[in-house]
Amino acid sequence: MGSINIRPHFQNRALLKHTHTQSLYAMNAGDGPLSYVQNSSYQRGIIDVAKPIIEQEIATKLDIKQIYSNNPNGFCTIADFGCSTGHNSFPVMQLITQAINRKLEYSSHKIPEFHVYFNDVVTNDFNTLFSSLPRDRLYSAAAVPGDFHGRLLPEHSLHFGYSAWSLQWLTEIPKVVADRDSPAWNKGEILYRGDIKEVCEAYLEQYSRDIESFLKSRAVEMVGGGLIAFLVPGVPEFWNPEIEYSFPSGLNLLGSCLIDMAKQGRLSKPKVDSFNLPFYFTTQQQLKAILERSHSFSIERMEILDNPGKYTLASANARAAFFRAGLERMLTNHFGSEIIDELFDLYTKKLIASPVFVNPDNDKSIVILVVLKRKID
Ligand SMILES: C[S@@+](CC[C@H](N)C(=O)[O-])C[C@H]1O[C@@H](n2cnc3c(N)ncnc32)[C@H](O)[C@@H]1O
Repeated sequence: MGSINIRPHFQNRALLKHTHTQSLYAMNAGDGPLSYVQNSSYQRGIIDVAKPIIEQEIATKLDIKQIYSNNPNGFCTIADFGCSTGHNSFPVMQLITQAINRKLEYSSHKIPEFHVYFNDVVTNDFNTLFSSLPRDRLYSAAAVPGDFHGRLLPEHSLHFGYSAWSLQWLTEIPKVVADRDSPAWNKGEILYRGDIKEVCEAYLEQYSRDIESFLKSRAVEMVGGGLIAFLVPGVPEFWNPEIEYSFPSGLNLLGSCLIDMAKQGRLSKPKVDSFNLPFYFTTQQQLKAILERSHSFSIERMEILDNPGKYTLASANARAAFFRAGLERMLTNHFGSEIIDELFDLYTKKLIASPVFVNPDNDKSIVILVVLKRKID
C-alpha cells in the first residue's frame, strides 16, 4: 500500500512547535466583564483613525483586474489575521467589502462574492465571533484557525489581508533570554527593558524572523496586485521612561508585581525567572527595515497613527483590565489561576501610585499603519 503524502505547510505549527513556550494563548473568551470584547476599547480606538486610510488605499491601489483573472464571475477573498472574538474586526471587514464594492460599481465588472476568513490561534473563542457576526454583512464568513506565520489559505487566493494588534506576538521566546549562561539572560524580568542590549537584540531578531515568515506565507497566498494592511503596535524611536510610558513599560510594571509576590512567598522565584512575554514592540525604522527585505511586497504606505483609544483607559482599573484580557490565559498557564486576582489587584495599586501611569497623555505607545502590495511575479 502506498503512503498518503500530507503537504507539510498546512500542518498545525501551533501544536507542533509552540507547546512549551508562552506563545499562542488566546484573548479572554466570551463577552463578560473580564473578556476581550469588554476590554479592548484601546485597540478599537485606532480603527476609526485607520478606516479612511484603508478606504483610500483600496480606491487607489487595489488591482481589480486580479480579482477577475482566471475567475470571470469574480469572487473576492479577504482575511483578518489575529481577529480574536471579532468585534473589532467586523467594522473593518464591512469597510473593506464596501470599499471594493464601490470601486467596482464604476467598472464594467460584475460585483464579486465576498468571502471573509477569520484567522486566530486554535484556542480562540470563535463561537463568540460567529454568534455576533453582523446581520447586514456583504460577505460569507469562515474560520481559519492556526498560526499565521505558516500557510493557512490556498495559493493565489487572497485579495485583501488585514491584521491589527497581532504581529507583536512572537512565535517563541528567544532561547538566549532564558539561558542563565548567556549575556542575553533576562534575569528577573518578563520582557526586555532596554538596558541590556543583548536582550533587546534577541527579541528584535525573533520579531524579524516572525514577520518574515508571516510575509512568506502571505506571498504564496496572495494574488499579485493584492493589498495587505497592518496595524502594528510599537514604540517611538525615543521616549523618556521617567515621565512617559509605553507598552513595554506597562508590562514591566506587571513583572515587578510578580517579583513582589515572589518575595512575599506567594510565587516561586524560579517560576518568575522562567516567565517571559512573547511580545516585541517595534520602532517604525526597525519595521521598515524588515519589510524592505521582502522581495514579494512593496511598501505602499507607512505612517504612525495617534491612538485616541488611549483615553478610554483613563482609570487604573480599566488599564489593568485591558492587560488582563490579553494576558490572563498565558499567566494562568504558567502560574496557575489562583494568583490572577491578587496579581491584578497589586497591578492596579501600582498604577494608581505611579505619577507616570495616571495620565493617558503620558502614553507614548504608537501604532504603525502599513499597507503592502503583493508584487506581480
Ligand atoms: C490583541 S489581539 C487583537 C485582536 C483584534 N485584531 C483587534 O484588533 O482587536 C491579538 C490576537 O492575535 C492572535 N494571535 C497572536 N499570535 C497569533 C498567531 N501566530 N496566529 C494567529 N493568531 C495570533 C491572538 O490570539 C489574539 O487574538
